[in-house]
Amino acid sequence: MTKEIVVSGIRPTGNLHLGNYLGAISNFVKMQHDYTCYFFIADYHSLTTHPNPTDIHNHVKQALVEYLACGLNPELCTLYVQSDLPQIPELYMMLNMHAYKGELERVASFKEKARTQPDNINAGLLTYPVLMAADILIHKATKVPVGKDQEQHLEMARTFGNRFNRIYQKEIFPEPYAFNYGSELVKIPGLQGGGKMSKSDGDASVIKLNDSADQIRKKITKAVTDNTPLEPNTPPSVAVQNLLDLMKVVSEKEKLMHFTAAYANCNIRYGDLKKELAEDMIAFLAPIREKIIEFQSDEKLLSHIVKLGKEKAHESADKTLMECREAIGFKKF
Ligand code: TYM
Repeated sequence: MTKEIVVSGIRPTGNLHLGNYLGAISNFVKMQHDYTCYFFIADYHSLTTHPNPTDIHNHVKQALVEYLACGLNPELCTLYVQSDLPQIPELYMMLNMHAYKGELERVASFKEKARTQPDNINAGLLTYPVLMAADILIHKATKVPVGKDQEQHLEMARTFGNRFNRIYQKEIFPEPYAFNYGSELVKIPGLQGGGKMSKSDGDASVIKLNDSADQIRKKITKAVTDNTPLEPNTPPSVAVQNLLDLMKVVSEKEKLMHFTAAYANCNIRYGDLKKELAEDMIAFLAPIREKIIEFQSDEKLLSHIVKLGKEKAHESADKTLMECREAIGFKKF
């Protein structure tokens, strides 16, 4: 029986964080056993913010190390660097011809970026969902393990794939859907009381996979809370709920129940909550951190893995691209 195809990637913006791990990578690790998986480091995507060449290289290497430390196994999945696949920009170009300014301007992530970086609203930012569609469609994926923030991009990938099929009257692309093992897509909160954990909210908001025990303690100690409630059974503020949500992930159920009840009874001590959460977070991330240190120094292994991934990914990408070229009418003379 042929296995379903899975594709997902992460932008190399420094160190991966708990949101990346729980929203995406933890599912990659499970899925590599059951599906034909392509996981990549989305370095083309990081160009929208104009990183310098040294940073790009270091960040790609760090992302690879962290993928491996989290448990991705290059013998079970295809693990590659996006810029090793020129087939992706070719498909991106083809899809761009049928992607319209109006629909791209309505994408929430574009509107958000246009608001936060008004001096750099480049065409790459506008067509970001088209590049992401090319990433997914180039391997004909049907399942895409991602966090909640990527849901709209998946909808766009379906639109662009279906549109290509319709225009060229060929069933080339299946429909890709966001995936999280039967449950809702995940949104891991940040530590500063805002929305999702994200590097753009600053280091204090984010728990990085390679943060030391001390850094984790400091960040959680400084996490935003609010005043202890005065009325019993008041719903927790967003900031406190965020900490309870993190506790749900890394702590024993009884501990979470204890602090939830303490909040409801107006006798919660945030210092105790943070201390427990910090120690559980440290224990949760310790095995990954140890492996990061181990893989970081093995340059030979890293370069072998990247080469292997490139070869395997090329094979699948070439096949799809040939079909697209033919459908469009780019025939060999
Ligand atoms: P990126 O690099 O922002 O994030 C990578 C993955 O981590 C998830 N994630 C989170 N999940 C839950 N809570 C959070 N706080 C959180 N922060 C990040 C994201 O949902 C994502 O799954 N455009 C993508 C990268 C990409 C891609 C693709 C993904 C490029 N091409 C093709 C899938 C398929 C992005 O910027 O993710």
